[in-house]
Amino acid sequence: MTQKRVLSGIQPTSDSFHLGNYLGALKQWVELQDGNDAFYCIVDLHALTGEIEPALFRKRTLASAAQLIALGISPEKSTLFVQSHVAEHNQLGWIMECLAGFGEASRMTQFKDKSAKGGADSARVGLFTYPMLQAADILLYQAHYVPVGEDQRQHIELTRDLATRFNSRFGETFRLPEGYIVKAGAKIYDLQEPTAKMSKSSGSVSGVLELLDSPEVNAKKIKSAATDAGREVKFDEKEKPGISNLLTIHSSLSGRSIADLENEFVGKGYGDFKGAVAEVVVEYLRPIRQKALELLEDERHLIDLLHEGAEKARVVASSTLSNTYKNLGLVK
Ligand code: TRP
Repeated sequence: MTQKRVLSGIQPTSDSFHLGNYLGALKQWVELQDGNDAFYCIVDLHALTGEIEPALFRKRTLASAAQLIALGISPEKSTLFVQSHVAEHNQLGWIMECLAGFGEASRMTQFKDKSAKGGADSARVGLFTYPMLQAADILLYQAHYVPVGEDQRQHIELTRDLATRFNSRFGETFRLPEGYIVKAGAKIYDLQEPTAKMSKSSGSVSGVLELLDSPEVNAKKIKSAATDAGREVKFDEKEKPGISNLLTIHSSLSGRSIADLENEFVGKGYGDFKGAVAEVVVEYLRPIRQKALELLEDERHLIDLLHEGAEKARVVASSTLSNTYKNLGLVK
């Protein structure tokens, strides 16, 4: 059998995913469902390391699930579930914490960045142990591949180190996972600040295209995107970051090459070009938004789908966990 096990996770930390999430990672999740045994996890426990607003927390977890299904994650083809529904994540997480060194955990750059932001006193222990929980997410499913962005490379390396350490001390238990790092070509930038990554935390509200925003709002954001000096529609990330970003967005969604798009807009201005980009984005997102909103209307059904996913996930997770406990000498 050539099927590979794939696992990835996303935090339910916003009301809507944005186009950067989609083109940078989630589109790849959809593609990897075919021909692989894919597990996709909404990592709500990881999200607890940020601000906790209970009503919002619940809403965002369900909105995340609805969007993932709407953009093509099929609960039949893959296993879609919520992390807190499968208690084995916490259980193996503890084992990983007992395996990891304080020093190596202190070197995680995401921890250093995030804890530096709020000042050392407001940093929580959960932020520190976050990578060990992530290692558990991955190792529980014996994943071959972990599709993630470049920023997660260090966490995958740590996961491999922990797995290697465990296997050599306690016997072969975990498969060594490989990061499946998204190609840089799919990277898109803030519409207002086209040198900064499109991101909810760092970007401007008007620079981020949200999947659940109305077509009107998204069209308006594109039409008021920052452009560059000159008037030629040409891909040049250095001199024309704004236009290059819009070209990438159009090309990624329409499937047309950048060269083809440049040709089409020879002799036309930025205005025409932005109109065309807006049209492509809006038409691409329209059915996704519609489907997500539909799913959110029937919460019971959506939660049932997630419970079914958790059940499938638990079969794999519990088998890995009990093998881990056995190899550690825990009495059954
Ligand atoms: N840390 C990841 C991020 O911020 C989210 C995540 C949690 C994850 N567990 C995972 C990603 C397991 C891949 C596999 O994007």
